Amino acid sequence: MREIAVIGAGAMGSGIAQVFAQAGDVVRLVEAGSEQLEKGMAGIQRQLDRSVERGRLTDAERAEALGRLHPSTDLRNAALADLVVEAVYESLEVKLEVFRTLDVECSPDTILASNTSSISITTLAAATGRPDRVIGMHFFNPVPVMKLVEIVRGPATSDATFERIESEARRLGKEPVEVRDFPGFVPNRVLMPMINEAIFALYEGEASATAIDTVMKLGMNHPMGPLELADFIGLDVCLGIMNVLHEGFGDPKYRPCPLLKQMVAAGRLGCKSGSGFHEYSD
Ligand code: 3HC
Repeated sequence: MREIAVIGAGAMGSGIAQVFAQAGDVVRLVEAGSEQLEKGMAGIQRQLDRSVERGRLTDAERAEALGRLHPSTDLRNAALADLVVEAVYESLEVKLEVFRTLDVECSPDTILASNTSSISITTLAAATGRPDRVIGMHFFNPVPVMKLVEIVRGPATSDATFERIESEARRLGKEPVEVRDFPGFVPNRVLMPMINEAIFALYEGEASATAIDTVMKLGMNHPMGPLELADFIGLDVCLGIMNVLHEGFGDPKYRPCPLLKQMVAAGRLGCKSGSGFHEYSD
């Protein structure tokens, strides 16, 4: 049985841990805070319960998947894994610290993958002594549902590392797509300017948040409107990605809307804070 470590038990990290555990791997789910770790594990339990209720999973499969998940607050527990997927908070400083520690703790053969949505893989790789084994493995929220895994190659990422991650993604039932390390990669370079433009339309008083979302849902067949999706992703995450695009390309077309900045400063972060462009009771 393979051992995988997932670092970070937020929405993405716990989703990633869940899909690996369901694919048959022993998974160390590591999170610094015990409260967040418990929340992440409870979220996985809820998702698995729902799958049993819907008849997608048997009781025995749920028990096996949960039995393969080992929560921990100690990053050193990632040491035995031969693949580590980092999914901590989207901050360069935080991720660099995690990568430096993993580089010391893990075997030199271990692949260090990041689920970052926009931080440079090249920069993360340069913080380690194994840039050929550092790669982006970018999942989408909700991880158990979304089919895509964007695989981001830095200039030093080896073919062997890429091929391993490509086969892991397929093993999880996902569709891998290869991209190069550019700011925002492909999804967020395309998605975030659309979300930012929707926020400008609201800011300038062109239409209400509900109207903007309805236009994109009914007119373009998007499953969620751009403002609803921004709330779902987290407005702090959206702002962080716009800043990466703005700084990375040096092009004013990527400037974040002042309303987005203001909402983040006010702590209105979307679903996770209960309020964003829309209100969330639960
Ligand atoms: N976790 C696991 N499964 C979930 C889920 C979650 N958080 N939310 C919904 N699901 C599952 C449900 O179980 C349901 O399956 P079931 O009915 O068989 O149980 C199925 O998804 C559909 O859910 P619902 O009927 O409740 O709701 P919808 O049909 O509206 O679908 C959605 C929900 C799949 C989230 C859909 O609205 C959607 O696709 N939205 C867009 C999501 C998207 O764009 N994600 C990418 C964000 S960008 C990103 O992650 C990248 C980062 O870098 C920013």
